[in-house]
Amino acid sequence: MTALREEDDTPVGLAVNSFASVSLEPPLVLFCVARTSTSWPGVRSAARFCVNILGEGQRQLSTRFATSGADKFSGVPWTPSPGGGPVLDGSIGWIECSVEEEVPAGDHTVVLARVHDMDAPREGSPLVFFRGLYGRYAQL
Ligand SMILES: Cc1cc2nc3c(=O)[nH]c(=O)nc-3n(C[C@H](O)[C@H](O)[C@H](O)COP(=O)(O)O)c2cc1C
Repeated sequence: MTALREEDDTPVGLAVNSFASVSLEPPLVLFCVARTSTSWPGVRSAARFCVNILGEGQRQLSTRFATSGADKFSGVPWTPSPGGGPVLDGSIGWIECSVEEEVPAGDHTVVLARVHDMDAPREGSPLVFFRGLYGRYAQL
């Protein structure tokens, strides 16, 4: 997920695969963030952030956003969602959210987020992460 940090509008973000849909009315999603994440405080500071659904060609981008301390946005083109969250070029979809509630859960925090806007601007298959390896989606 990506956001512009409230204090200085610096783009921040991290790779997350613990994403799930929760509710249609109101529209809610969830994901879990490690308490050690250095990027989450910046993301949660923003009024709106974006969940980017990465395509199968964006493995390197995922690795970069999974590297703590990396210059994650260097050379990465993006455009703002209607509410200002960075939409990474090449993402096959984006979901603009705000933090609704945070529930401590062991060494992670379960984040419930409200969905405000979304789009799937590109055709394409999602990047898949399974048993520690990247793969691609195949329809059965
Ligand atoms: C495919 C993939 C999925 C990940 N999913 C999560 C996740 O759901 N929650 C989480 O806290 N970290 C997850 N991580 C690890 C974070 O992306 C990584 O720890 C994070 O970038 C730490 O950087 P930060 O200190 O800048 O937050 C995932 C990493 C990868 C490669």
